Amino acid sequence: MKIRDKVAIVTGAAAGIGRATAVMLAENGARGVVLADLDEAGLQGTAKLVTAAGAEAIPAPTDVTRLDALQQMYRAADETFGQIDIVFNNAGIVSGPPPFPDTDVARVKLVLEIDLTSVIVSSQLAIQYMRDHGGGVIVNTASTGGLNPYLADAPYAAAKAGVIMFSRSCGDLKDQAGIRVNAVCPGVTETPILDKTGGGQRPDWLGPILEHIQILAPQDIARAVVGVIEDDNMAGDYVVVQNQPK
Ligand SMILES: NC(=O)c1ccc[n+]([C@@H]2O[C@H](COP(=O)([O-])OP(=O)(O)OC[C@H]3O[C@@H](n4cnc5c(N)ncnc54)[C@H](O)[C@@H]3O)[C@@H](O)[C@H]2O)c1
Repeated sequence: MKIRDKVAIVTGAAAGIGRATAVMLAENGARGVVLADLDEAGLQGTAKLVTAAGAEAIPAPTDVTRLDALQQMYRAADETFGQIDIVFNNAGIVSGPPPFPDTDVARVKLVLEIDLTSVIVSSQLAIQYMRDHGGGVIVNTASTGGLNPYLADAPYAAAKAGVIMFSRSCGDLKDQAGIRVNAVCPGVTETPILDKTGGGQRPDWLGPILEHIQILAPQDIARAVVGVIEDDNMAGDYVVVQNQPK
């Protein structure tokens, strides 16, 4: 799909990968970008960058765990632009300390709710809309953590593995309805989430890892998302953005 003149929804758009992707979609000629996140101040910052990059930005404060909020996000996009071509389901959290198996059970449930259930429910709403409007592209943020065992945050790894399999399971929608659903799996990327992993600071385990690998920039992931959107052959696939050795 060519991004020029298209309309996109980006969740987790207040910072990091979501912000970089929203800006890159605008740079590639998107007509409008609906920006969804819990962090309203962050959304205003992203909106300024998206506007400066040439697209109309609609900040839409949204808790992706709430069905009514997701429905309102889709309604706002349709009422404002009359089209929704691209959805990037990207909002996510990590469990943070203490590491698994001592993670608080409420936190485990929230990780699954935000990182997996909300991705599925938002995709459902997008698919129902796109089915009636000639198709579209959905990209879901998974993680290399969803491909490799990761005991310290096993709930996160399980959720991200779920995002990969959910996206793969939607592959047939390309032939059925012209809707391409794919996942992107970022490696370690320089965003605010890294500090949350350690409860307000970089976790101890990250230091030794970063001695051997180059940390990715959010723009590296945004470039991969743009590539998935533009590649009309991709459906039910996942793209891995690996850290390169130093
Ligand atoms: N940074 C990395 O190393 C890395 C690696 C692999 C995957 N990821 C994934 O990339 C995605 C984006 O994360 P990021 O690295 O940009 O971190 P980030 O913390 O900068 O961005 C995540 C955003 O999601 C938002 N969010 C959290 N809960 C929400 C909710 N209930 N409703 C709406 N918004 C909510 C946060 O407010 C935040 O702005 C996440 O799914 C994350 O798991 C990140």
